[in-house]
Formats: sequence, C-alpha cells, structure tokens
Amino acid sequence: MKLLVLLALLGTVSAHQLHEGTPEQEVPAEQGEEEPGEPEPPCPTESESFRMTVPGSGGHTYRYVFVNNCQTFWRARKLCARCYRGRLASIHNYSTNQRLRCTARARTNRGQVWIGGVTSRWFWRVSSRWIDHSPWNYSNWARGNPRCFWKTCVALCTASGQWRSVRCRARLPFICEY
Ligand SMILES: *[C@@H]1O[C@H](CO)[C@@H](O)[C@H](O)[C@H]1NC(C)=O
Ligand SMILES: *[C@@H]1O[C@H](CO)[C@@H](O)[C@H](O)[C@H]1NC(C)=O
Repeated sequence: MKLLVLLALLGTVSAHQLHEGTPEQEVPAEQGEEEPGEPEPPCPTESESFRMTVPGSGGHTYRYVFVNNCQTFWRARKLCARCYRGRLASIHNYSTNQRLRCTARARTNRGQVWIGGVTSRWFWRVSSRWIDHSPWNYSNWARGNPRCFWKTCVALCTASGQWRSVRCRARLPFICEY
C-alpha cells in the first residue's frame, strides 16, 4: 500500500516536471516574460546597431535595424518598440530573407538572429505566425523545423538563411523593422 502511494506521488512529480520543466514551457503567455526586478535594458548603442533602408514596391520604404546585442525574444521585441517604434522583422519572400540574412551575417556575431515569428502547439497542431499579425505566407525552415513542444520563437541562421525554432528565452541579436 505504501509503495503504491509512493509510486503515485512519483508519477505526479514527474508528470508535473514534464509539464513545467521543459525549455519551451518556461515561456509564459505572449507579452509576459518579465524577469521580475530586472531593469529595462537600455537602448542599443550606435556601435551595436546597424540601420538599413530597402525601397519597396509602390514607393514604400522598409527600414531595418540589426542589433548586435543579445536579448531574449520578448525583450528584443520590447526594445524594437521602445527604441525604434518598430517591431521584430517579419519576412514575406525569398529576396527579403536573403537581404536580411546577408546583412545580419555581416553585422551580428552569433550565427542566429531573432525575427518576429513564434510557433505554438495546440495538441497535435503546430502553427507559426508573425507577431506583427502580417500573413504567414512565406517560410524557410531548416530541416526538422519548426520544433515545438509548447512555444518556440523563430531565429534566422545567418549562414544558410534558414529558420530554426529556438527557446524564446535564449539571448540572440535581433532585427527590428520600423
Ligand atoms: C519582397 O517583400 C518586400 C517587402 O515585403 C517587397 O518590398 C518586395 O517587393 C518583395 N519582392 C518580391 C520579389 O516579391
Ligand atoms: C505576403 O504578405 C505580405 C504582407 O502583407 C504582402 O505584402 C505580400 O504581398 C504577400 N505575399 C504573397 C505571395 O501573398
């Protein structure tokens, strides 16, 4: 009888750990992700940010900042908003992907950078979206991606231009669009 109780408890604990402890699970819902008590990071300095302007169709101009300062995904997003009145970049075609990859490769030093996508799972269904709400109409996943137990964020590999699912708490350089 005691043994059964013990087994039941162990079962509960490991189920609990499985639920709470995996990397993707550390990420709370959407906006959150504040480390309590940690001050807001200062805006990137000029030396760690590189601005690029791309003329688009119909006279529209796209502006990007490549920030070589490693932040978690949600902090990067906040910095894009606070420091550039922008957002993490979304990518809608191959040519933009290439352009951003090349500049990110030259201007950042981690091999991967955050772009503005997140992947989440609802039971067996894994889906990705841009946090700026633009349509998810292009993707360039590396083989075996997206990977997602609960929620992951999208990183662009600066060597291949392919995208990988990364734990949102990882700290990476990032690309803002404004
Ligand atoms: C790719 O996307 C950018 C920005 O969304 C746009 O300005 C450009 O015209 C597109 N290029 C092609 C070849 O569709
Ligand atoms: C994808 O979405 C972007 C952003 O709204 C849009 O500019 C682009 O034309 C779309 N591309 C295709 C192929 O539908």
